[in-house]
Amino acid sequence: MEMEQLVALCKRRGFLFQSSEIYGGLNGFWDYGPLGVELKRNIREAWWRDMVTGHNELDVPAGAPSAYEMTGLDSTIIMHPQVWKCSGHYDLFHDYLVDCRESKRRYRYDQVQGRWVSCKEQRIFVATEAGGQEGLEDTQQKALKYFNLRAKHVDELAWDGPLVSLTTIKDFSQVLGPDAKTLGTITEPREFNLMFETHTGAIRDESSKTFLRPETAQGIFVNFKNVLDSTRVKIPFGIAQIGKSFRNEITPRNFTFRSREFEQMEIEFFCHPSTSPQWYKYWRDRRYRWYLDLGLAGDRLRLRDHEKAELSHYSCGTADIEYAFPFLPPGEFGELEGVAHRGDFDLRSHTEGKLVRSGDSLVVELDAEGKPKYRGSGKDLTYFDDQTRERFIPHVIEPSAGADRAALAFLCEAYNEDEAPDENGKPAKRVFLKFHPRLAPVKAAVFPLVKKDGMPEVAKEIYSALKPHMNVFYDEKGAVGRRYRRQDEVGTPFCITVDGQTLQDGTVTVRDRDTLKQWRVKKEDCLGEIIERLRA
Ligand code: GAP
Repeated sequence: MEMEQLVALCKRRGFLFQSSEIYGGLNGFWDYGPLGVELKRNIREAWWRDMVTGHNELDVPAGAPSAYEMTGLDSTIIMHPQVWKCSGHYDLFHDYLVDCRESKRRYRYDQVQGRWVSCKEQRIFVATEAGGQEGLEDTQQKALKYFNLRAKHVDELAWDGPLVSLTTIKDFSQVLGPDAKTLGTITEPREFNLMFETHTGAIRDESSKTFLRPETAQGIFVNFKNVLDSTRVKIPFGIAQIGKSFRNEITPRNFTFRSREFEQMEIEFFCHPSTSPQWYKYWRDRRYRWYLDLGLAGDRLRLRDHEKAELSHYSCGTADIEYAFPFLPPGEFGELEGVAHRGDFDLRSHTEGKLVRSGDSLVVELDAEGKPKYRGSGKDLTYFDDQTRERFIPHVIEPSAGADRAALAFLCEAYNEDEAPDENGKPAKRVFLKFHPRLAPVKAAVFPLVKKDGMPEVAKEIYSALKPHMNVFYDEKGAVGRRYRRQDEVGTPFCITVDGQTLQDGTVTVRDRDTLKQWRVKKEDCLGEIIERLRA
């Protein structure tokens, strides 16, 4: 599947639109259309149901060290600025960027690649933003242009090594920027904090500066004590939250994959330090299985443990759940979700102040005068176990998923093409979205074969019987074959058609989106039939 086909379908059928499109769009922001909003709601609801409300705290799930409780939260997007100072986001949540003095474009330092080429007694590094085969072709085109060569003289270019990251280049004087015509226009890398700033209240100065949250997680940590004090939860337990997060990404790209406004589905799971390695393993496997159960294929989905060098300074273990998105070069995967063992870093930070690593331990970072650089709340965020009489700072396991990336992966995975008879009975290409029934925006469509002979009346009766239970679509316009195809294209699992036989024996046809099989059921059994098949 080419990504362009999916992007076009998403626009044409109302899954995704570029934000503010009538004004030319705003880079990194996306709106969910009438079908997209249903898809994303179904993803959120599946996550909340499977992780929170449907979780049975009386059972010990397979692979879990014990039973556990789950609860939810909905915290604010703007929080006290000290939250971000103690969490480390204020100082550390940055990417490196480079500017091009010639094109005036800005790039994320680690996303620029290039390769060395020699020609006409000169050796230059040709940079590109593209990867894989596209990157090779792009650098070749740029090198031909730079050396003033025609395509037929491509052999005069002597390439030296594969595409490598710009981060490996020491001297930028021989770098030809991705959009430049001359050498040496790329500036030295510098830090760029990804948090969006705003001001709260009428006065706009340093003291009123606040931030749009770049993750929902911190809202959970700062409410840890409130949840403990207001409920009867006992460790081990998790607090789940779904909500918008904002990051001023330098180069938003790949459709919704890297956006500036997106939605996260995060769990902070609090447990005793002695069992935290087992809980980490449990969550890593549990979350991986969730995507598999909802239809992401085995070979395009993988669980990747981070190398030690990749771990953040506080993390004792992190694994990413990754999907082979079609916009990535073959063999490359993009992150859907990170599952991290965060130790006691977060609760300690919000008690003591921003922490830094010193040898094997975490200590409060001090300023030039030896005082804490950013003071914590001073609130006691320990947990007292009244059975063992032990007081401790819980360890945290964090499964952190992106709802938009999940929606994109489910869309990519669902996209299918096959050949099926069209409305004239001739074989023709068919596009269908093979969504898991739980995720399908519309569960069933109801059609009268023709708009006469009482068929619309029967179809409307069936539609009204289904409507209170699920999202159903009624359509009586155009050839029935075309109506089927319209539903296939948005992933509706079942179509119910009222036809001539219905008027004689009271049965209707039910058609399966994936197999195209049709069978007859009594019209009054439609609701039961669809509910049962959606559950299967
Ligand atoms: N609290 C941990 C945390 O936020 P993260 O890996 O930065 O970790 C978690 O983000 C998830 O949020 C990612 O796996 C991804 O699904 C989603 N995400 C992060 N940045 C995103 C962006 N710019 N656009 C869309 N989704 C994003």
